[in-house]
Amino acid sequence: MTPYIRAISKHVPSRRVSNNDLSKTLDTSDEWIYSHTGIRYRHIAGEEEAASDLGIQAGKQVLEKADIQASDIDLVIVSSSTPDYIGGLPPTACIVQNALDIPYSGAMDIQVACGGFVYALETGRCFVQSGAAKHVLLVCTEVYSKILDWKDRSTCVLFGDAAAACVISAGEAGQTARLFKAALHSDGVGAPFLLRPQGGTRKDLDVHNNKSYLFMNGRRVYQFAIQAIITMMDMVLDMHSLSLDDISYIVPHQANQRIIEAVAKRENIRMNKFFMNIDEYANTASASVPVALADMQEKELICPGDLILVVSFGAGFVAGASIIQF
Ligand code: ACO
Repeated sequence: MTPYIRAISKHVPSRRVSNNDLSKTLDTSDEWIYSHTGIRYRHIAGEEEAASDLGIQAGKQVLEKADIQASDIDLVIVSSSTPDYIGGLPPTACIVQNALDIPYSGAMDIQVACGGFVYALETGRCFVQSGAAKHVLLVCTEVYSKILDWKDRSTCVLFGDAAAACVISAGEAGQTARLFKAALHSDGVGAPFLLRPQGGTRKDLDVHNNKSYLFMNGRRVYQFAIQAIITMMDMVLDMHSLSLDDISYIVPHQANQRIIEAVAKRENIRMNKFFMNIDEYANTASASVPVALADMQEKELICPGDLILVVSFGAGFVAGASIIQF
């Protein structure tokens, strides 16, 4: 059994908000945001739209693109750190499965914050590799706009909403878009530096002092991210006896252009080896890497045989890297 990505699609909300739009109600500027992050726009979900709504759109598109019946899907995995309901109760995956008329499949959520895509992809790969599933629908969907304090300029300018979906199927040897085993990492020392302090079982929500919004120590996350990207790239390349020269593109989690520039400088990698689309979507958490892959396919940047290295990191801290041979 060779697990491969049969198709990949993205869905972003139509409301596009520029840095200049934000500067009308917030003490910020296009100059500050762009120069510190590389972000110019973000897409924001409607008031009534939740994670499943974006995910269902991406899921519908990918089933069509994959030319597969909903009834062929054995397992639905939703990766989201902004699920429809607190704690993923009920799992957003069940809501997506029902809306897509997928009968008799398993459904589960994976919550690994911005690292979610690599973790969920590896989970789907293992299900297919072991024969436990033939076709897995993986949906990454995030609506960070709902968990941000829009008065906190140090966090709210950084994120956007988006979803992306892929179908992971069992293929033959020599299959294109073949998935390699991933490298996964966690360092729980980072937990206090990127979190929603209230509203879980550790601390109840205090309605007078709402701390359910995202809190981030940007400097600590920045330092972790640079080292995590470098370490995870090395780990996954070593695992498969490959070198960076074998890789056509690196697709990193799109958190900050400056993080990637620092990695490129430290490791002496040319910047155009990294695919970046943060200028248009900002940080869309676990959706960012698959949205980037969908964009690359739309732009026809990926050629047959290309090895693409995907690498993500996020709250936890967590990190992961995987390789896809197109
Ligand atoms: N507009 C204008 N000024 C701002 C803004 C803003 N939006 N935000 C912060 N500032 C100000 C600060 O108030 C501060 O002013 P002061 O010097 O008068 O106190 C100044 O800019 C510098 O602030 P810093 O926080 O030191 O800015 P820094 O250069 O560190 O950049 C940033 C901040 C962009 C958040 C950076 O730390 C970073 O990218 N960190 C990593 C973020 C990240 O990757 N997050 C997500 C990863 S995981 C996940 O995806 C969930």
